[in-house]
Amino acid sequence: MSRKLILLVALGAVIMFLVGYGGANAVMARLADRQQPAAAGDAAHGREIFKTTCALCHGSSGRGMPGLGKDLVNQSAWMQKQDDAALIAFIKVGRAGEDPLNETGIPMLPMGGNPTLTDADLADVVAYIRSIQKK
Ligand code: HEC
Repeated sequence: MSRKLILLVALGAVIMFLVGYGGANAVMARLADRQQPAAAGDAAHGREIFKTTCALCHGSSGRGMPGLGKDLVNQSAWMQKQDDAALIAFIKVGRAGEDPLNETGIPMLPMGGNPTLTDADLADVVAYIRSIQKK
């Protein structure tokens, strides 16, 4: 094989690689877009969970209780910025009293103190919280 031919083949390989890489990136970006809206939970089931686990501190109407839990109807700026996945992650770990995000100094226990809640339960309870949010 002549040197020129080898160079040509090498150049071709580089171009094929770059085109292929760019194409794969575009496909990945499109896939990521499609995954954006997470499957919405079942708000009716979430309401049941809220009443049995969360209402203790956040009140049966979700409007919060002085000295216990925050208002989840008139939501904080922080809460409005969280997507469903972020809220689920938050509920799982709760928030310590010393956490910089904590505005009341009162801790929220992981899972609101109910470790039996599953990921699906949390998705449902988040759907419920969204439904009571003041628009
Ligand atoms: C033992 C009391 C308690 C229970 C039970 C409880 N929470 Fe909380 N929760 C709190 C407290 C206290 C805060 C606020 C901490 C702070 O000041 O940042 C809070 C904060 C939150 C926030 C963030 C609000 C914000 O604006 O920062 C969400 C969302 C939330 N709770 C959801 C839930 C859900 C859903 C449940 C039921 C699975 C639940 N909580 C159960 C006490 C509780």
